[in-house]
Amino acid sequence: MSELPPESRIWNLVRGALGTRALALVADLRVADALATGPRPVEAVARTVGADPDTLRRLLRALASDGVFAEDEPGMFRNTPASELLRGGWGDFAHLFGGVWLRTVSELDAGTGAPTFPRAFGTDFWTWLAEHPDERAAFDRAMEQGKERRAERLIAAGWRGDEVVVDVGGGNGTLLVELLRRHPGLRGIVFDLPETNRDEAVLGDRIEFVAGDFFEYVPAGDVYVLSTILHDWPDEQAATILRTIRAAAPAGARLLLPDAVVPSGNEPHGAKWLDLLLLALFAGRERNEAQWRGLLDEAGFEPVRVEDGLIEARSR
Ligand SMILES: C[S@@+](CC[C@H](N)C(=O)[O-])C[C@H]1O[C@@H](n2cnc3c(N)ncnc32)[C@H](O)[C@@H]1O
Repeated sequence: MSELPPESRIWNLVRGALGTRALALVADLRVADALATGPRPVEAVARTVGADPDTLRRLLRALASDGVFAEDEPGMFRNTPASELLRGGWGDFAHLFGGVWLRTVSELDAGTGAPTFPRAFGTDFWTWLAEHPDERAAFDRAMEQGKERRAERLIAAGWRGDEVVVDVGGGNGTLLVELLRRHPGLRGIVFDLPETNRDEAVLGDRIEFVAGDFFEYVPAGDVYVLSTILHDWPDEQAATILRTIRAAAPAGARLLLPDAVVPSGNEPHGAKWLDLLLLALFAGRERNEAQWRGLLDEAGFEPVRVEDGLIEARSR
């Protein structure tokens, strides 16, 4: 670990909410789009995006001090590789983190382990998304971030080549599209709630979308992919999802879980922070190796490998 002074460590953490909110503001205003053609004076950018010039300048100055945008001459801002990311799905992540999730996390306390989202918004997160189609669309776009890494792990997972793959909670289907593109003999089913935003033309004729609730039913298949699904749920509900799959799956069916395995000790890992968001949203959790093995075993699956990024099991 670098030799950061102790005060700097605390400062970097206590200012976190300011960075989260500043990113959401500039993402929602589409400031990175307004700078797409090159450096511009902040007053002109403020006019384009409909912001107060002084406030925008202060937001950009703070973000530029962390490498998101750059101010090369006083008052002239340009994009950087990091601010360019806000033009895609990272902008949707920034919107969610600095909006609905910031409010959710601001209510987190250490007294109960209960999720704060229902307390703050009066319903569970998935129902709230269904009631807010723009937020649901932002969520589905945000979930595509990091998809390439997850797809590569799945593509390399060893395939017979003619399996039916069910992507349980597969969102808009982009992960399955990528897997089937690289394994042309596979067929796929994306299973998710009906309100996901998807372009079924993109799914092509080898992938079918099936709407449903994975606590009640999943379609039959040879391989089940659950990409960052079980971390959304506490153990009891995660085990129920796995049992629903076991009831639909033939003996020996494969389970492939692109998900994190939390390392022990002080090693930095994004999952150690994401875990707190999952706790606040839905009493979900990131799991370490022993917790993954215990969960799979209890639900009737034999763990085959438990590696950070890909967990594999077979139904007994
Ligand atoms: C964290 S996202 C992961 C999406 C996708 N697998 C990925 O890796 O990007 C969780 C997904 O679970 C879906 N989901 C939540 N509750 C569900 C339920 N009861 N039945 C089916 N899908 C559900 C959500 O709609 C969402 O698309």
